[in-house]
Amino acid sequence: MGQFQAEFPKDFYWGGATAANQIEGGYDQGGKGLSAADFVEYIPKDQRKKDNSMEITSDQIRKALSGESTARFPKREGIDFYHHYKEDIALLAEMGFKAFRLSIHWARIFPNGYDETPNEEGLKFYDNVFDELRKHNIEPVVTLSHYETPYGLTDKYNGWVGRETIDHFVRYAETVFTRYKEKVAYWISFNEINVITISPFTGGGVVSDKEDKPMQAKYQALHHQFVASSLATKKLHEISPKAKMGCMLAVMTHYPHTPNPLDVLKAQKQNQDNLFFTDVHARGEYPRYMDRFFQENDIEIVKETGDDEILKQHTVDYISVSYYMSMLSSESPEGEVTAGNLHNSLKNPYLEASDWGWQIDPVGLRVALNDMYDRYQLPIFIVENGLGAYDKVEEDGSIHDPYRIEYLGKHIEQMKQAIGDGVELLGYLAWGPIDLVSMSTSEMSKRYGFIYVDKDDEGNGTLERSRKDSFYWYQKVIESNGEEL
Ligand code: BG6
Repeated sequence: MGQFQAEFPKDFYWGGATAANQIEGGYDQGGKGLSAADFVEYIPKDQRKKDNSMEITSDQIRKALSGESTARFPKREGIDFYHHYKEDIALLAEMGFKAFRLSIHWARIFPNGYDETPNEEGLKFYDNVFDELRKHNIEPVVTLSHYETPYGLTDKYNGWVGRETIDHFVRYAETVFTRYKEKVAYWISFNEINVITISPFTGGGVVSDKEDKPMQAKYQALHHQFVASSLATKKLHEISPKAKMGCMLAVMTHYPHTPNPLDVLKAQKQNQDNLFFTDVHARGEYPRYMDRFFQENDIEIVKETGDDEILKQHTVDYISVSYYMSMLSSESPEGEVTAGNLHNSLKNPYLEASDWGWQIDPVGLRVALNDMYDRYQLPIFIVENGLGAYDKVEEDGSIHDPYRIEYLGKHIEQMKQAIGDGVELLGYLAWGPIDLVSMSTSEMSKRYGFIYVDKDDEGNGTLERSRKDSFYWYQKVIESNGEEL
């Protein structure tokens, strides 16, 4: 038998990924307006709902705007990257980063979303950030919308439910494509576009209690995002013919719980539900399996003339994914449930889980990459993967995080095997290379970073940055192009 040795391509993009609302802070500085993320409240662990719900009600919004709310809003503070970006980028460069993913906070550029002209101070901030990255030879990978729909659009159109939001998004996209055409080559339209059907406020600034038919509203909002993404792709290709637009999916590979054909069918269905989003982005049309779902759920997507052609003509150049865990599908309602990214899942007896219950499955990453590459034959970019964990600072200031090293190393090994299987991979961006505010829980103590940030769940701390053991480990991984894990 011949020996097969998988290896990473020479120009592989090693790096990390973040989102503006989880790092920047400065929520009311530099002319920025409010966005969906600015309304997300910190809820202590013992008071959290079991269903992971991240919805915000009209009443919460009213209270936040009137000053009546007593809640903390950690995404307004982030880790103050707004003022620390030079220091933070220098640390990423020290690890040898080739690429860094960040989002532009849409409300920094168009404070209400619907403004006629962009906010120059916001544009300048990202000029500075991109220049700083380029200075260190780090390729920026930029998300246009990472749970940051400007509040003005929620107020006027209930976010992405309103068709008008498409035009405002395209104007924003055109503005930043033009401004940064010499600085940014990789773009992503919507972070985890599947989130809009799970948590419409997070994914699209949609307040569900304002809608008589919330299910209809969220799929309509999704349709608007699909069209907006295609129109943005069209604009990008006109403005910078060499630049690449990617879509982004929280990929959730479902395994059947047992060999019972009903479980297998259920898993197939749930995989379709997950891949539906990339099917539209990559193939340029709604898959036929969704017709049945729409009928059974009384959903009728309102399309304008030309929408189908827009989707078909302006498909994405690459697929990007976040991968944290796999899921189990079962016809039977019984079985132990554990928490997960956006969804809960049945417990898989073969897997261990993080402190937050997310099941750790490196092989599942290889499965997901193979599935997606077989389906689309487009390059794939892993733009999120990582372990949220509690870290302890020792008396001498050191932070030993072998659990993180183990998690990442095992995923990188499987990614390498997927490359050996023939999958075309552009790069690997670990989630939260510097500790940041958790998306789902708004905690600081759920840490992903190679770089520790001194800040706790209540917002106390010096914000000082320090290197964890994993910092030096990842530095070696990059230096050896994935050979030393
Ligand atoms: C992804 C999001 O779903 O998961 C990120 O794109 C998020 O924004 C990441 O931070 C990890 O989730 P959490 O809830 O642990 O922060």
